Formats: sequence, C-alpha cells, structure tokens
Amino acid sequence: MKTIIEPFKIKMIEPIKLTTREQRDTILRQAAFNVFQIPAEEVMIDLLTDSGTSAMSAEQWAGMIRGDESYAGARSWFHFEKVLRELTGMTHILPTHQGRASERILFELIGGAGKVIPSNNHFDTTRANIEHAGAKAVDLVIDEGTQPQSKHPFKGNMDLGKLNRLIAEVGAERIPVCMMTVTNNSGGGQPASLENLRTVRDTCRTHRIPFFLDACRFAENAYLIKLREAGQHDRSARDIAREMFDLADGATISAKKDGLVNIGGVLLMRDDALAARANNLLILTEGFVTYGGLAGRDLEAMAQGFIEVLDEHYLEYRIRSIAYLGDHLLDAGIQIIGPPGGHAIYIDAAAFCPHIPVEQYPGQALVCALYRHAGIRAVEIGGVMFGAIDPDTGESARPSMELVRLAVPRRVYTQSHMDYVIEAIMEIFEERKKLRGLRIIEAPLTLRHFTAKFEEI
Ligand code: F0G
Repeated sequence: MKTIIEPFKIKMIEPIKLTTREQRDTILRQAAFNVFQIPAEEVMIDLLTDSGTSAMSAEQWAGMIRGDESYAGARSWFHFEKVLRELTGMTHILPTHQGRASERILFELIGGAGKVIPSNNHFDTTRANIEHAGAKAVDLVIDEGTQPQSKHPFKGNMDLGKLNRLIAEVGAERIPVCMMTVTNNSGGGQPASLENLRTVRDTCRTHRIPFFLDACRFAENAYLIKLREAGQHDRSARDIAREMFDLADGATISAKKDGLVNIGGVLLMRDDALAARANNLLILTEGFVTYGGLAGRDLEAMAQGFIEVLDEHYLEYRIRSIAYLGDHLLDAGIQIIGPPGGHAIYIDAAAFCPHIPVEQYPGQALVCALYRHAGIRAVEIGGVMFGAIDPDTGESARPSMELVRLAVPRRVYTQSHMDYVIEAIMEIFEERKKLRGLRIIEAPLTLRHFTAKFEEI
C-alpha cells in the first residue's frame, strides 16, 4: 500500500480552539507581532518546537504510575539506566532535567578560557553554555549544509578539511572535545552519515580529542542513515543508533525530542574520572545521581520513550510525515532547505517574500502571516533571532539565511493537520506580495526573539 498510516490510535484528545481570522488579527496585535507572546490556547497548530511537545503512549503513562519516587536507588532509576545502557553502551549515565543541563555540566568541567569546541553546528543553548564557560564554539559543517538548494543527503556532515585546519591552527591540546549534532538542528534538521561520524571520530582519536554527540535526535538521524547511506538499508535503526553511540566518547541528550517525553535529559560518558566530577556537579545543582532533578515517574517515561522511538514503523511514519510536508511545499514552488530532514521543515523566507528587505524581517513577516491566516505558530530563525545589536560595536549581526521553521511535534498531529498547514502556506504564497515587513519597536539586547515588540510597516 502507498498510504502510510499513523501507527497508533488516539485514546485521549486535547480540543483545538478554532478561531477566526479577525480574532487572530487582534491577538497578533496584542502580542506585538511576536508569536512567543501568544497564549498556546489561541494557537490552532503549534509548530513552534518539537521539543517537549510529544504525545506519550499508554505504556509511558503506565510507567508514570509505576514510578518509584525513592530519593536514592529508585526502581525507576535502575530501569532507566538499563534501557540507556542497552541503547548506548555508555559506562556512565547521568539523568538531568533537560539537554542544556547536561551541556552546562559538561562544559563547566572541560570548557574554560582559551579552549575551542568544534561541532557541525552547535545548537544555541550548546553554544551559549560553551561561551558561558569561557570557551569558543566553532561550526564546521560542510559547505552544502548552508546551501538551501543543495540536495546532499547528509548536509549535517562535518567538513574534515575544516576540522584538520582548526586542529593545526589552535592545537589539539586546546580542543577539550569535538561535538557532532545529530540531526543537525541549526543546519535544518539534516543528518550526518555514519561514514562522516567515523572519519571525525578517527581524526579525533589521532589527536586524542574526545568525541561527543549532541544526540537529541539520534533516532531520526539513524533512520535517515538507513534510508540514505549505501550499505545501511538492511540494518535496523536500533543497530545504526548503537553504532553511532559506539563511535562516541560521550553524549548530551535532550530527551524532550527523541526521548518522546515532555521533560528530561541525559549526560553520557565513558571516562571514569570525568564522570566522577560530573556526578559531583550533578548533585550540587540537579539532584542525586539516581534522579538528576527528575521525578521517578519521569525516568520511567523516558525509559519507555527511548525504546518506542526506535520502532521502525514509528520512524517510517515520522520521517515520511516531514517529507510529506516538505515535498508539497517544494511542488508548489516554495523554497525550503532540502532535502526534508528529521524533525522540521525550514522555509527560505527571503525567497518567499523577496519584496521584503532583510532589514524588515521577511521571516517574521511570514510567521505573522501563518498565524493570522490559519492560526499556525512557527518560529523565525533569521534576522530577529540572530540579528541582535553588538553592545560594543553597535553593529547588527546578519545571519546567512532568513528561515521560518515548522517543527513537528511527535505523534501529535495527523495527516489532515499537515494538509491544513500545506494549504495555508500555499494560500499565503499566492498572495505573498501583500505580506508586509516589520520594524522592532522594543527589544532586549540578548535573546531578543522571545520578547521583542514589532509593528507592521
Ligand atoms: N541540542 C539541540 C540540538 C537542541 O535542538 C536542543 C533544544 C538542545 C540541545 C537543548 O535541549 O531544550 O532540552 O535544554 N532544542 C529545542 C528546539 C529548544 O526548539 O529546537 P533542551
């Protein structure tokens, strides 16, 4: 059969409040054209993020009831540890409340002034935590990774030439870790290939640089390897995921993505001495080593989520539904970062509305249109998010792309929700000349996209 069905039934529903265009126009104005300021109840389809927005399964909810809330050595902890050890083979498994907590602990221990930490692309919180620890974060993705039209199957790959040049330039002793984000969120949710991961690992090993994964979306990356990499089609996603972890010396994970939970994270490593120091920091700021700032029930939900996410029927449906959205937009002549990746579709907003100059935030204009037209919430990744004014130079940063991300929560929306999104975007595209640019009337110096106020030009 050609039709791929959602491989689950819906047992509990959450009603969507349907609003009119007039109501949404008022709400948008009240929010000063910033969708972060809109109450979620007023959103019909929320594609702001795929993080922490998954629907849990009956088995996960059953685990929530079974959760053991003992302070030390809870049954839920041993269950969680067993699942994570079988999945990753890592020696040390530290639970944290979310991805950035794992990052904060890791970089506080190995970062510091003078250190340089490369990745394909660091996610914003990873970069911020590296910089907070005094080190420098460097992005070394292959050139194709920044070209929306390139059809390279693994645009999340790291450029080995760039990595070797960096090592030669700064010296291996100043590089405490080399990261790879799988899939590469900041680069459009694009996967890295096993071959690339192996080569990066080999280079790191030659120079005695530890190699860590930012493995938030490891299952989606593994499935894209299965689909796209020569010689991998007959392997299971679980097997491929295990090989990805086997290549690494450690990993940071936000379980809010492929852990299929609403809160939770993991920090993984093999080095005993580093783990001892990490455990101390964990106890200091998150909680005891057998719960890490989470409830026992959260550990149960995560344990089950990490099993379910590698179900091949789930992954087929997941990756196909992202491609379904992306392919329909491409067919309509709408430029996206192709080929569709793991968790989101990124629309090239500069190409969508070329009449709006980048100084007037074409991405934000499209985000506002999506909400006003159809109650869809997306996020701008462009001049608003990354264009903040440098307080020292007074210069405004200019990102290389003006994007709008449509991130798809896991197991939450059906195909007809996606059809609605596609129809809405196509209608806006027909009338795109009517979209208006925006100007910022108020914004903080850092992380301005959350609270900036705009007006339409
Ligand atoms: N690494 C990557 C690649 C991420 O995408 C995120 C979060 C994190 C780390 C941090 O994890 O939120 O649990 O602390 N990404 C979310 C997003 C916020 O919308 O892409 P966290």
